[in-house]
Amino acid sequence: MNILITGANGQLGNEMRVLSAAHPKHRYFFADIVEAEDVYRLDICDPAAVSAFVTTHSIDLIVNCAAYTNVDKAEEDEVTAHKINAEALSVLGGQGIKVIHISTDYVFSGNEHVPCRETDPVAPRTAYGRTKYDGEKNLLAACPEAVILRTAWLYSEFGSNFVKTMIRLGKEKPQLGVVFDQIGTPTYAADLAQAIFTVIECPIWHPGIYHFTNEGVCSWYDFTIAIHELAGIKTCQVRPISSDEYQYKTPRPHYSVLDKSKFKKTFDVEIAHWMDGLRRCMKKL
Ligand SMILES: NC(=O)c1ccc[n+]([C@@H]2O[C@H](COP(=O)([O-])OP(=O)(O)OC[C@H]3O[C@@H](n4cnc5c(N)ncnc54)[C@H](OP(=O)(O)O)[C@@H]3O)[C@@H](O)[C@H]2O)c1
Repeated sequence: MNILITGANGQLGNEMRVLSAAHPKHRYFFADIVEAEDVYRLDICDPAAVSAFVTTHSIDLIVNCAAYTNVDKAEEDEVTAHKINAEALSVLGGQGIKVIHISTDYVFSGNEHVPCRETDPVAPRTAYGRTKYDGEKNLLAACPEAVILRTAWLYSEFGSNFVKTMIRLGKEKPQLGVVFDQIGTPTYAADLAQAIFTVIECPIWHPGIYHFTNEGVCSWYDFTIAIHELAGIKTCQVRPISSDEYQYKTPRPHYSVLDKSKFKKTFDVEIAHWMDGLRRCMKKL
C-alpha cells in the first residue's frame, strides 16, 4: 500500500516514521504543515492540495497524526483548532480511501468514575475536545469505513511533552507541585504507533471507534514520581497538589481512563503497562 502519514513532525508522526522501517512492504509518504527532511509540506485543511497529493502518489490509506493539540490555545482560537481538528477531517475522509485517525479522551466530560467505553456518551468540556469530537463526526460522515483511535496522555522521545518537562523541572527545581486528583493513563506514542500498524496489518479491516492507551492508571503526581525515579533525579521534592491549587486555564478531566477491551478483543493483542512504556521511552531520552 501507499500510505500517507500526516503530522509527521509531531510526537506520533515521528514514532510512525521510526516504526515504518519495520514494515518495508508499504511505501510511506510523510507530510506535515512544515516541510522537513523526508517530509512533504501538506496542509490537511487545503482540499485541493490533499486531493492532488492523494492522486499524484496513488495513496491507498491516510494515517492522520496531524492536529491542533494545544488545549489552552484552542480556547482562545477555537476557529483555527476547528479547521485543523474538525473541518480537515471532511477533507481527509472525502478522498475515497481508508483513513486511520487519532482522537482523544477529551471528548468525554472527565467526570466519570469507571473507564470510558467507545459507546459511552461524549460531553467535551473544552474547545479542544469539541473540535476533536466534531472531527470524529465529520470523518465518519465522509468515510464510514474509517478507524478512529482515541488515546490520552501521549508522550514520546520526540517533541515537547510532560515527561521531558518533568525531567527538566526536576533538574532545575528543589521542589515541584504536581496534581494528584487527575487520573488517566500515560501512553507511549511508540506503542500507539504499534497499535496503528496492528490495524494496518490486520487481514480484516475493522472500521469504527476504538480506545487505545497503555495499561494501568495513575495521577500526574504518580507519573512524575516514576519519571524522576527512572531519570535518577534525587534533588527535587515532588509534592502532591490539587487541580484547584494549580489553577488551570482550561478545565482538565478528573478521570479519563479509557477502556481498551474492544481494541484488545478485535485485534487480539495485549497492551503494555504504562510503566513499561515509560521505561522504554526513558532509555531513548
Ligand atoms: N498529546 C497528547 O497528550 C494527546 C492526547 C490525546 C490525543 N492526542 C491526539 O493524538 C494525535 C497525535 O498527537 P501528537 O501529540 O503527536 O501531536 P503533535 O506532536 O502536536 O503533532 C501534530 C503535528 O501536526 C502538525 N499540524 C498542525 N496543523 C497541521 C495542518 N493543518 N496540516 C498538517 N499538519 C499539521 C503539527 O505542526 P505544528 O506543530 O507546526 O502545528 C504537528 O507537527 C493528535 O490527533 C492528538 O489530538 C494527543
